[in-house]
Amino acid sequence: MKEMAALISGPEAAELILESIPRPVIMVSKDSTILYINKSMEKFLNINRTVILGKPLLQALYKGQAYKRQGGYRSPLMETLLTGREFSNQLMEIKTIYNVAPRLLQVTTFLIKEDNGKIRGACALLSSHTPDGRAMNFPAPSEQFETIYAFAEAIGARDGYTMGHSEKVAEYSRLIAEKMELDAKTVDLAYLSGVVHDIGKIGISEEVLNKKGPLSSEEYKQIMGHSQMGASILSHISWLNDLVPIIEAHHERYDGTGYPLGLKGEEIPLLSRILAVADAFDAMTSDRSYRKAYPLEKAIEELKHNSGTQFDPAIVKVFLEMLKEYV
Ligand SMILES: [Fe+2]
Repeated sequence: MKEMAALISGPEAAELILESIPRPVIMVSKDSTILYINKSMEKFLNINRTVILGKPLLQALYKGQAYKRQGGYRSPLMETLLTGREFSNQLMEIKTIYNVAPRLLQVTTFLIKEDNGKIRGACALLSSHTPDGRAMNFPAPSEQFETIYAFAEAIGARDGYTMGHSEKVAEYSRLIAEKMELDAKTVDLAYLSGVVHDIGKIGISEEVLNKKGPLSSEEYKQIMGHSQMGASILSHISWLNDLVPIIEAHHERYDGTGYPLGLKGEEIPLLSRILAVADAFDAMTSDRSYRKAYPLEKAIEELKHNSGTQFDPAIVKVFLEMLKEYV
């Protein structure tokens, strides 16, 4: 006789479905505390759910920033909660602090109400598939970008940096560009340039990269070659072509004594000048294989001291103003 499956109760069935559904699900309370995320959402964010459960949605996933640069809510779930507007399979770009690049997803959100209509919270379901089940055509550029990011980090790690250097340089560059009110495309390029800035170090041995004593002229030449090498690598990747001149010039100095071309002042692309400040600041405030991180005050002093010689003074000024907002 055919064996009957054991019946399961409603809540147990609901939990099984939620945990097994291949769509990221998140639920928040009326005051936007994260109450639940399913396994797919853990996978999407690449975290363990305990990291964000019980925390306010905006703080946990969006650095407390409610609005996008261009206006509009960063979080569709927050928008639903605050305005009552629900979305049904709407194509949206989602970028949380756990996603390196924005992801284009289909988003469904709805309010959770009691029988008497009282709002209890809200729920969002994400999907990277169209309703008819076809996978959406969005691996580019975000997945390509993730590959580049992983690659850049691996190179940075050889340079005595702990992981995260490229992402921090990228984030500082983006924040400077935003503070300077540059257009959205330039702000994105600022971020990308930070991620890939040292990609040209791929050909340099770890021994030379981390050498403590003085470098021989041959070794110095190798190190200095990384900006042009990086530019050359990026020139083969069509969607990163805009970054070629920026990466090539990221070790130019404002007073014209940098490399490889000795460009001066505004001859240096703006994003290279931004990158120089972001890169130096993160280098100073990070532990390196050969020294401890500088205290913040010392790093700030160094930036001021080298403003007008190594760095564009206008960018140092913007960066220091911006730091005040964060520390
Ligand atoms: Fe560099």
